[in-house]
Amino acid sequence: MRRRSTVAAIDVGSTKVAVIVGDVTEHGDTRILGVGVAPAAGLSRGVIDNIQSARDAISIAVEKAEQACGMRILSAVVGISGGHISSQNNRGIIAIPDRTRPISADDRSRVLESAGQVAIPTNRQVIHVVPRGYWVEGTDQVSDPVGMFGGRLDAEVHIVSGAVSAIQNLTKCVEGAGVQVDDIVLECIASATSVLEEQEKQQGVALVDLGGSTTSIAVYDEGSIAHTACLPIAGSHLTHDLARVLRCPWESAEQVKCTVGAAFADPAMVSETVEIQAFGTQSTKHVPLGHICEILQARTEEILEMVALELKRVGYLDRLAAGLVLTGGTAQLRGLPEVAESRLGIPARLGRPHGYSGLSDLIGTPAFATSIGLVEYALGGRERVVESTGAAFEVPVGGIFRRLASLGRALMPQ
Ligand SMILES: Nc1ncnc2c1ncn2[C@@H]1O[C@H](COP(=O)(O)OP(=O)(O)OP(=O)(O)O)[C@@H](O)[C@H]1O
Ligand SMILES: [Mg+2]
Repeated sequence: MRRRSTVAAIDVGSTKVAVIVGDVTEHGDTRILGVGVAPAAGLSRGVIDNIQSARDAISIAVEKAEQACGMRILSAVVGISGGHISSQNNRGIIAIPDRTRPISADDRSRVLESAGQVAIPTNRQVIHVVPRGYWVEGTDQVSDPVGMFGGRLDAEVHIVSGAVSAIQNLTKCVEGAGVQVDDIVLECIASATSVLEEQEKQQGVALVDLGGSTTSIAVYDEGSIAHTACLPIAGSHLTHDLARVLRCPWESAEQVKCTVGAAFADPAMVSETVEIQAFGTQSTKHVPLGHICEILQARTEEILEMVALELKRVGYLDRLAAGLVLTGGTAQLRGLPEVAESRLGIPARLGRPHGYSGLSDLIGTPAFATSIGLVEYALGGRERVVESTGAAFEVPVGGIFRRLASLGRALMPQ
C-alpha cells in the first residue's frame, strides 16, 4: 500500500537539473507540489566531471523547487545514468527445510538475497536488485511463492550496477547542495515507472529515453524488467552535427533543431528555407529546411540503429509486441516515433507522464518522464514494480542510502 508522504526527486540530466516535490492525494493519486529546473553544468556523457559546477546547478534547482512548494528539501531520491551502468540477470536457489509449512515472506527475502549475490569488482556497486520471477521446485514460473509448498525455491533477479566513483560523485554533489540522498535510481527505470502501461510491460516493450547526451534503454517482458543499457549518444549529437555542417553557433543549431527540425527529410521541404544565425561576415543565412532535416535524419537513424543493435544483441528486438516507448527531450524531435517504427519495424509511441495532478505544460512532456518517474518511484513505484513481478520488495543495496521508510521525513515546512 502506498503511504501518504511527501517526497523530493532530483534528476541530474546532461542538459537540465530538475527537482520535483510530490505527494499522494487522499484518492491515492500522485500530486506534483513544486518544480525547480536549472540548466545542467559539470556533466559529461551523463557523468559528473566537475563537482563544483554540478553542485551549483543542483543547488539552484533545489532552491527553485523549495520556493515553488514552500517546503525545505532535506532529502531526495536521485536518478543516475551513464555509460558506466551495466546490468545482468541472475538466479538464486534456497532449500526449504520443512516442506510441511508454507513458503514464508522470509523465505522469499532469503532467495532474493541469494539471487542478488554476484561477484562484482570492488570499483563497482550494485544499484538495484529487481525480482523477475520465482519457481517452486522447478515448476512453472509463479508470481509470488508465499503460501505455496515445496522443498526448493528459485528466484531470478535483474541486477543493475554502476561505477562506485560515479555514484560517490553524484552523492557528493547532491549532499553539497544540502540534500541527503535517500536512494539512487536508474533513470530509465524511473522513466518506465511514469509512462509504461502494465499491458506493455506484459507483452514486451523497450523504454528508450533519448536525453541530451545519453540514450537509456529499459526492456520489460512478461511484466518484469529484463534488460537495461545506456548508450553515450543523444540530442546534443544532433545539435553538434547541425552546428558543424551549417557553420553556425550552437544556440542557433539547438533552436533550429527544436523548432523546425525533423527526424526525416521530406521532398515537400525542398522549397522551404530557414533563416539561421551564422558565423562570418553575414550575421544570418538562409538554409533549405530539407538540408537541415537530412543532417538530423542521418544522426537520428544512427542512434536508432544503435538501439536496434542493443535490442538484437540481447535477443529482444523481435519479441517486443508493444515495441518502443520513447521519452526524453530528443523524443520530441518531429517525426521521431514514425522513423523509429520504420527503421526497427516495431510499434513506437511517445511516452508522456500522465495521470498526475499538478502537471504543467512543461513537466507533462517526454523530457520530464524521468523526473516524474523518480517521484512516483519514491512514493510507490517500487510497489508498482513489485505488483508486476509479484515479488515482495526490491532489495535495497548499497547501505549508504537511507531506506524509503525515512521518506516521510524528507521535507519539512519552511
Ligand atoms: N522539440 C525538440 N525537438 C528536438 N529535440 C529536443 C526538443 N526539445 C528538447 N530537445 C532536446 O532534448 C535534449 C534534452 O533532453 P532531456 O531533457 O531529456 O535531457 P537530460 O535529461 O538533461 O539529459 P540526459 O538524460 O542525457 O542526462 C536536448 O538535446 C534538447 O536539444
Ligand atoms: Mg534525462
